[in-house]
Amino acid sequence: MDLIIKNAKIINTDKTYTADIGIQNEKIKRIQKNLKPDTAEIIDAKGKYVFPGGIDAHVHLNLFFCDTYSENWDTGTQAAACGGLTTIIDFAIQTKGKTIKEAVEERKKDAEQKACVDYSLHGGITDWNETTRKELNYYVSNGIPSFKMFMIYRKRGFMSDDGMLFQALEETKRNGGIIMVHAESTFVLDMLIERYHPQTKKLGAWGHALSRPCFTEYEAIQRAITWTEVTGGRLYIVHMSTGEGADIVKAAQMRGVKVWAETCPQYLLLTDTVFKKKDGHLYATCPQIKKQHDQDRLWQSVIGGEVKILATDTCTFTKAQKDLWKGDFTKIPYGLPGMETLVPVMHTAAVGQRKISLNKFVALTSTNPAKLFGLYPKKGTIAEGSDADIVIFDPNKKITIDHKKLATNCDWSPYQGMKLLGYPEVTISRGEIIAKDGKYVGKAGRGKFIPRKPGGTI
Ligand code: URP
Ligand code: ZN
Ligand code: ZN
Repeated sequence: MDLIIKNAKIINTDKTYTADIGIQNEKIKRIQKNLKPDTAEIIDAKGKYVFPGGIDAHVHLNLFFCDTYSENWDTGTQAAACGGLTTIIDFAIQTKGKTIKEAVEERKKDAEQKACVDYSLHGGITDWNETTRKELNYYVSNGIPSFKMFMIYRKRGFMSDDGMLFQALEETKRNGGIIMVHAESTFVLDMLIERYHPQTKKLGAWGHALSRPCFTEYEAIQRAITWTEVTGGRLYIVHMSTGEGADIVKAAQMRGVKVWAETCPQYLLLTDTVFKKKDGHLYATCPQIKKQHDQDRLWQSVIGGEVKILATDTCTFTKAQKDLWKGDFTKIPYGLPGMETLVPVMHTAAVGQRKISLNKFVALTSTNPAKLFGLYPKKGTIAEGSDADIVIFDPNKKITIDHKKLATNCDWSPYQGMKLLGYPEVTISRGEIIAKDGKYVGKAGRGKFIPRKPGGTI
C-alpha cells in the first residue's frame, strides 16, 4: 500500500462503519479491519469522520461572459481542496456561431496544468442547429452527458428559447443525457429590471431583489418541467432558489417526470435582507437570494428529498470587482465564492442544526452528484476499486469563518463570522494528500479531466 488510513469511521450513503483503508496506485485497494501496515504512510483517523471526497457539480472559474473574475483554475481548485472537494464540474459554454467542441477544447486548455483537483465539464448550449444536435449526441456518449441551457441572458446572446429547450430535451429522452436549466423568465425579468433601473440610486442593491421576485424563477421552472414532461426528456434545475419552485419540482417528481434539483448554500443560509446591508451588492447573484419562507421550504426539500444535490454555483469576485457596480444594480458582477466552504458550512447547517444524517449529507455533497452526472462509482463513494478521493473530517474542530484565513482568492465571504462545527482536516485525491488543515499541500496542476457516462440517476 502507498497509504493506509487507520481507524476510519467511513461514512457512505448506505452505511457507517469503522475499518482501515488501504490505498495503492491512486485507488482504494482494500477496506478491512486491522490492515497490516507495510511500508505505507499511515494516517490515524480515530475520532474523525471519513467521507468520500466532496463533488461540486456547479462551478464557474474564470467565466468568460463576466467582464472580470477573481478565481482561476489553480487558485479555485486549491481552495476547493482545502474545503474537502476532490472533484468539480465547470462548464464549456458554446457561443453563438461556434461549436460545443470549440468551447470544450478551450475550457480544457484553460484547466490543464492548472486544476489541482479532478474536474469535468458540462456543455453549455446557446445556439441550436443541426451541428449542435449532433454534438449533443456525440458528447453524451463521449464524456460530457450534461448540458446547461440558460432561460435568461437574452440580451447577451446566451439564452435558449423554448423551442431549443424542447428539442434538446427530446434528444435526452433518446440518449440518456441531461439538460440543466438556469430557470428565470427572461422577458418579465428584463421588463422589471428596466422598471426599477431609473430608481437605482435610491434603491441600491435592493433594486436587484425587487427586480427578481420569486415568480421570475418558478414560472420558468414550471415551463421547463412542462417541456420535460411532454418530451419524456431528463431535466436538472440548477441553483433552485424559491419555495414555489420546490413545490413544482416535488409535484412533477410525483407524476414521474424525470426532473432533479440542486440548491446552494446561499439559498439555505441567507435571505434577501442581505441586500439592505451597506455592502449588500456583494451578495448579488442570479438567481438572487430569496425570502425566509423560500429558505424554509428549500430546507424541507433537502430533508424530504426533492433536492438531491448541494452545489455552490461558485463565481467569485473580489470586493473591488463587485464595487464596479458604482451604485447601479444592473452592473454588479453576479456570483459568490463558495467551493471552499461548501462541505464545512453545510455540515454545520445540515447535520449540526437541521439534523440530517451524516449519510444523507454525504449523498448530497458527493454520492448523488457522482451518480447523476456519471462519475459513480469511480467517484462519490469509499469502496474498493474507487478512486482514493477521501476527506478526513474533524467533527470537533470549532472554527469561525474568516475570509482572511481561507485559501480562496477572495477578500470577503458571504458566511463571514459563521461558527462551524467541524472542518476538513486532510483531503486526499487519487491517493495523494493535497490539503491539510486548510492549506493546499499537493502538486500544482495535478487535476485530471474525468470523462463521464450518460444515463445517471439517483
Ligand atoms: O450569478 C451567477 N451565479 N453567475 C454565474 C452564472 C450562472 O448563471 O450560473
Ligand atoms: Zn445559472
Ligand atoms: Zn451557474
